[in-house]
Amino acid sequence: MNDIKFFSALGIPAINFLYDFIMIISGLGYGFKKKIFDIAEINLNEKVVADIGCGTGTQLKVIMEMYFPTKVYAIEPDDSMLNRCRKNLNKSNKSIKYIGAVAEETTLQNSEIDVCVSTLMAHHLTTDKKKEMAKEIFRILKPGGHFILTDWGKLRFEFIKYLLVFEKQDLLKDNINGNLLIFLQDAGFVIKKHQKMKWSGIYTTVFMKPE
Ligand SMILES: C[S@@+](CC[C@H](N)C(=O)[O-])C[C@H]1O[C@@H](n2cnc3c(N)ncnc32)[C@H](O)[C@@H]1O
Repeated sequence: MNDIKFFSALGIPAINFLYDFIMIISGLGYGFKKKIFDIAEINLNEKVVADIGCGTGTQLKVIMEMYFPTKVYAIEPDDSMLNRCRKNLNKSNKSIKYIGAVAEETTLQNSEIDVCVSTLMAHHLTTDKKKEMAKEIFRILKPGGHFILTDWGKLRFEFIKYLLVFEKQDLLKDNINGNLLIFLQDAGFVIKKHQKMKWSGIYTTVFMKPE
């Protein structure tokens, strides 16, 4: 286990092994992750891509099946999730580089990435870390590059937040009140698309770093 501090996938690291199963039964598995790219309409062929908080790699699996990116970074601070990701994506896939790091400090170079993807990760961050993540993703993207963010947003019904038993209510606040999108715009991003997913309260937002 590394010493990076983060809020784990299900809130308790010991139950990480249940993650893929819980995603499937909640309707947040492969099909959900494929739908993100139908909404985003961004072509990842021959692009340098980073998945920030990649977890067990379902989003990357979708990407590798739909597109032919030139290089892919799988960024994840939780060793046990990153190891599962490696297994799920098959170690022999040479175009994927696995990095144990956080969204606030990815270790990637300035303007190195064409498309950043982050699915259901941002609500694991405190307000300060959300702001740091926004600046960090802006830094690593090329001008004209895109950030495809899928996460909790405004809820149709307030009570829904109490059904999210694996989430920390205080970390969800910035998502639900719209501040997360503001932090990203404050970092310099322009919103190109913002669309609700099938699930009540989860949105895919496509941001662009201006040329
Ligand atoms: C709900 S899971 C989502 C995983 C994957 N993106 C997916 O959609 O299945 C959230 C992930 O974010 C990771 N995470 C938590 N804090 C993070 C941080 N500061 N930077 C990057 N990832 C983080 C967790 O370890 C976990 O794997």
